[in-house]
Amino acid sequence: MLSKTQVEVCRLCAGTGWRPIAARSGEHQERRVTRCDCRLQARNQSLLAAANIPRRYEHCELASYTTDFPGAHPSLAFAHLTASKFAQEYDPRDGTGLLIIGKIGTGKTHLAVGIIKDLMLNQGISCLFYDYRELLKAIQNSYNATVQTTELDVLRPVFETDVLVLDELGAVKPTEWVWDTVSLILNTRYNDNRTTIITTNFEDQPAAGANGAVSIARAATRAETLGDRIGERMRSRLHEMCRIIKMEGEDFRQKFRSASFR
Ligand SMILES: Nc1ncnc2c1ncn2[C@@H]1O[C@H](COP(=O)(O)OP(=O)(O)O)[C@@H](O)[C@H]1O
Ligand SMILES: [Mg+2]
Ligand SMILES: [Zn+2]
Repeated sequence: MLSKTQVEVCRLCAGTGWRPIAARSGEHQERRVTRCDCRLQARNQSLLAAANIPRRYEHCELASYTTDFPGAHPSLAFAHLTASKFAQEYDPRDGTGLLIIGKIGTGKTHLAVGIIKDLMLNQGISCLFYDYRELLKAIQNSYNATVQTTELDVLRPVFETDVLVLDELGAVKPTEWVWDTVSLILNTRYNDNRTTIITTNFEDQPAAGANGAVSIARAATRAETLGDRIGERMRSRLHEMCRIIKMEGEDFRQKFRSASFR
């Protein structure tokens, strides 16, 4: 948020948003100014405020993700490194996203939020966070005649934000409508070269009955896969759209329930 001190009494720019810079030697002594950091910071803070990050993930930062604990799976350090590089090397012209896969509590959402916080605060990139269930619920809700918002009111920011986090892909019971909606969102963003960061608890395995997968009959005895939940076509599309990060190990919260990590 804009604090009064930042905007009104910034000592560098006296609140104008423009601060004087010294003329180089040999130049005319005319007044030269540049955009003051206080305005940039205020803009980035407002990006953060509009990003829809749930309160329980507000603390998540790339710098606070630790892999320095006994029994930390090596995949976590690799995931952390990949996430940090992704934020550092973010190029708005490249729509390649991330698909972060792992069991609950491995820190997928933490890294996804850490990336977008870095992009907003340090690079001024617009980002939006949506839980998959919440997004589908919001779209469905917009069909309700008593609600003022239209489907496009919900979807426009989802289509237009530079970087979208879609958290817990596949967490809604799949239906034809769910598949159509999700592929509309992901394909639209990808065609517009916009980056999407996806997390999922489901294993990146084919749908039952798909080529090379178990039969539908045998599938009943195995854990559901990402293919089962989002459809085989969308799953293979994600492989084109995203770099894949796999996170293994136990639930961080179980491990450090009473410890100092929070
Ligand atoms: N390696 C880690 N270092 C610091 N905090 C972690 C780590 N892994 C998980 N956490 C914390 O544990 C909680 C659960 O992590 P979360 O990212 O929600 O897991 P997931 O999305 O994989 O289910 C969060 O509060 C998160 O900040
Ligand atoms: Mg999560
Ligand atoms: Zn200033």
